[in-house]
Parts: sequence; C-alpha cells; structure tokens
Amino acid sequence: MLTPNQRYHDRVASRYDDIYAKDPYWSYYRDVSWQDLKRSLPTDLALPVLDVGCGTGLYGLRLMRSGFRVVFSDLSRKMLDVAARNVRTQFPDRRAEAVQADITDLEPFDDRQFSLVVAQGDVLSFALEWQRAMSSVRRVLAPGGRAVLSVDSRFGGVDPFLKQNDLDGLEDFLRCGTGEWLADRPEERFPFHAFVPDELARCAGRAGLVLVRIIGKTLFDLRHGHCWLDDTASRRRLLALERRYGETAFALGRAHHLQATFALREDVGEGEDALREKKAARRGRRRKKGAG
Ligand SMILES: C[S@@+](CC[C@H](N)C(=O)[O-])C[C@H]1O[C@@H](n2cnc3c(N)ncnc32)[C@H](O)[C@@H]1O
Repeated sequence: MLTPNQRYHDRVASRYDDIYAKDPYWSYYRDVSWQDLKRSLPTDLALPVLDVGCGTGLYGLRLMRSGFRVVFSDLSRKMLDVAARNVRTQFPDRRAEAVQADITDLEPFDDRQFSLVVAQGDVLSFALEWQRAMSSVRRVLAPGGRAVLSVDSRFGGVDPFLKQNDLDGLEDFLRCGTGEWLADRPEERFPFHAFVPDELARCAGRAGLVLVRIIGKTLFDLRHGHCWLDDTASRRRLLALERRYGETAFALGRAHHLQATFALREDVGEGEDALREKKAARRGRRRKKGAG
C-alpha cells in the first residue's frame, strides 16, 4: 500500500523534469546548491556517493559528470525509473545502481558505505521521523565523509499563512514547524517539517553528527522569474552574492530552504556550538561554587 507521499511523487515523476530541470529559477537554485555542495566533494573516488531522495536524478547526474560513482535512491518507484532512464540516456557507457529506500532507515545499504550522502529537495522534511533519518544517514557515512542535506526553512515558509490571514496557523507553524503538503488531490497530501538551524544542529548531535556549515538558499527569491536569470553576466553576479552572503544569519532568515553540511563527530570533534555550550555550563558551575 503506497503512502500519500509515494502516491504524490509517483504521479509527478514523469513531469518533474519539465517543471524543475528547465525552469530558469530552479536551474539557478541548483547552481546555488551545487556551489556549496562542491565544497564537500570527496577527493578519494574509491567509495560511491549516495543521492537519497534522488527524484529524477538531477544532483546524482551532476555528481556522475564530476566522475563519482553514484547510487541513486528514492522512496518513489516511478521517480527512480525516471532517474535510471536519465542515467542511460546521458551516460550510455556507465552503470549506476537505482535502489528503492526510505531515508528513515536506508535499510538496503551497509554501514559506512558512502563518502558523501546528498539529500536535496526536502527529503528530510518529508521523512516523518527525521531523527531516525539523520541516524540512518550517519550509519551509511564513511569516516571523513560529509552529508549535505537540504530542508524546508521554517521562517521561509510563513508566506502562505500571511496570504490566508491565518494567524493561528502562523503561530502553530512557527512553534512546531509542521505543515501539510497541499497536493491538489486529498489522498496525496502528507505532512512535512520545516526546520530552524538550531534544531538541525541538535538533531545531528543526537545522531553522532556535527553541523559544519549551513547556508540559506536562495537569498533572492526569483521563483516567479526575473530577467537577471536569463542574462549570463547578471546570473554570475547573483551567484557570487549567494556565495558571499549565503552563510550569514540574514540569509538563513530570508531563504525558503536551508542546506546543511554534516560530518561525523569522531572526525571533527564536537563542533563549535556544543563546545561553547559546555564552556558556558562550566562557567555557570564555577560561578555557583564561588557564590556558595
Ligand atoms: C522534491 S523531490 C527532490 C528530488 C531531487 N533530490 C531534486 O532535488 O531534484 C523529493 C524527493 O524525495 C523523495 N522522498 C520523499 N520522502 C522520502 C523518504 N522518506 N525517503 C526517500 N525519499 C523520499 C520523493 O519521492 C522525491 O523524489
């Protein structure tokens, strides 16, 4: 029995590339994602990389173009079929595995199998048990590897509530981050979770991962089109601005998505936030002792 999430993605699979692969904004969005993702590419090509929630394979194909061995994985059978077809068309001489799996358990994969795990386009937001999903990503990540996960941003998701004059809904959404994916067909509606950066860091910490970097994307919401996107020089300047300001607090607030990069705790230690918190707790304890 298919879940509403699978039903929806199965249905849109054949149209997905028409909507997202060719649209100038979504192509710009992918370039913003890629210029950050590039910073985490493994230097050693020995291990494969995993594109989980690959959809039609837009990111995995780009990774293949950069020479990586890619395993494509998705919960939707139909999305995977399109991804496999795209691989055959674009790389007739190469093979890539396409494996149906849920990011919540990544059951078909071995521990520490991948040097990079990429989950683009809300996959973690669509996984109801995102803490489990984070732990499964951690399980399949090899030492020295990185996971680059893109999620819905909570503050970037408030506009629908403003448009509908729904103040109660806005308060609820900002408090708990849960919304409903409003597919046209009621049987295809499913919940999603929109994150704030601290929550991602905490969730990662519980899974044994450390948040090493986070960007807001995109800084400029040009989803309805803009002449700058069609002009090569302007587009390049916009991308430079995204690169320069994408990690700043105000960019995180503006963006509709957050792209977070994680490393294994044993590789990088506890991360600056956790260390700062520990130091503050130690200072607090010393002050208490002094006062007593
Ligand atoms: C918005 S699409 C993004 C596709 C692709 N990564 C991209 O950025 O173009 C989200 C994808 O996540 C998949 N998905 C949703 N929930 C999932 C889950 N729990 N585990 C794995 N894949 C999931 C959907 O089937 C869909 O292909």
